[in-house]
Amino acid sequence: MPYPHQKSVVRTLRQRGWWLACLLMAACLSGVLMGLREPVKSTDLDALNKAVVVGDSSFINLWTAPAESRLRSLPAPDRALIRYGRDLIANTANYLGPKGSVAHMSNGMNCQNCHLKAGTQPWGNNYAAVQATYPKFRERSGTVENQIKRVNDCFQRSLNGRPLDSSSREMQAILAYIKWLGTDLPPKQVPRGAGIFKLKGMNRPADSTRGLAVYTQKCQSCHQPGGEGVLALGGRSYTYPPLWGKHSYNQGAGLFRLSNLAGYVRYNMPLGATYEAPQLTDEEAWDVAAYINSRPRPAGDVSRDWPNLAGKPFDHPFGPYADPFSEQQHKYGPFGPIKEWKEAHK
Ligand code: HEC
Ligand code: HEC
Repeated sequence: MPYPHQKSVVRTLRQRGWWLACLLMAACLSGVLMGLREPVKSTDLDALNKAVVVGDSSFINLWTAPAESRLRSLPAPDRALIRYGRDLIANTANYLGPKGSVAHMSNGMNCQNCHLKAGTQPWGNNYAAVQATYPKFRERSGTVENQIKRVNDCFQRSLNGRPLDSSSREMQAILAYIKWLGTDLPPKQVPRGAGIFKLKGMNRPADSTRGLAVYTQKCQSCHQPGGEGVLALGGRSYTYPPLWGKHSYNQGAGLFRLSNLAGYVRYNMPLGATYEAPQLTDEEAWDVAAYINSRPRPAGDVSRDWPNLAGKPFDHPFGPYADPFSEQQHKYGPFGPIKEWKEAHK
């Protein structure tokens, strides 16, 4: 039952509905007219842009990993395998790095260096979509890939190492952990906030000189002026991982594509930045990515990648291409014309 005064408010609103509507329209119209007379100031635009970012559906209701407490409902051996998988992601080098306790088969980086919080951070290159979307066809190999192949891709490229035996306890543990992260997710759907954010392109090439300035100011205190990072005490893993040089990811790795690196950096770096509290602008992210990927790094074998030329992504930095754009433009942009060309020649 509404209170009497509420009733009267409702009635008044109904009676006055038309008047209110007219008033609103008048207000809007005068707003528009004033808008026509006075150009929007850039500060207003900044405020407007901020409002748009906050309300953007790319940043709300994002995927979260299943709660730790739910692990308890699993049989002890499953629980142990999942936990081992998570530890392998977080502390890869301790087990499988140059001084690893299980094998020496990767460059000293941890999966978690790029897949933040053991692959659970929204827009932090997480594993949210893996269980739901594999096996799947991937243009890079031109084949249908299962999770084992995809995990080993990162071992061979991002960790510049060797593949893990598919029957090893380590591979089984990583798969169990990825499956656990996919708990409750419907098949074939990519959850919100999965993987790396797709950054809007610029209408100029990304500029490594400007990137160096960003790097000097905001990155080198941890990753070092020479990009080699800082080894942890004991030298088994990194406190600050390398961004280029012989211990970094190789040229076949996902981060060697500018859009992946820029998207990752935009919402995760400097350390502590998140999609909720980013510290770089889009331009800074593109430019610093250009600087990092213009530095030397291991070559890696990319000779059999992208067997279908038309399937190469717009930012794959090695020709030949199905389109007429240069390697330079494919590496640094602007990517808009390449995307348009691909769209027109589908
Ligand atoms: C140097 C950074 C880096 C490191 C280290 C790294 N990865 Fe990745 N990984 C990436 C990037 C970038 C992608 C996405 C590539 C793309 O979309 O083209 C990716 C993708 C993946 C995917 C597929 C995700 C999806 O949604 O399709 C899996 C699974 C994966 N990595 C597992 C691992 C494992 C396991 C390790 C450790 C052995 C590892 N990665 C280490 C950068 C890295
Ligand atoms: C306060 C220290 C710190 C600063 C400053 C910082 N990073 Fe990082 N960065 C890290 C750490 C630590 C990791 C690994 C995160 C983990 O393992 O959880 C990382 C990981 C990375 C990675 C993925 C792993 C790799 O080595 O390839 C990239 C790329 C990266 N940072 C780029 C940048 C860029 C670009 C900046 C500047 C805009 C920056 N970082 C500033 C500490 C820092």
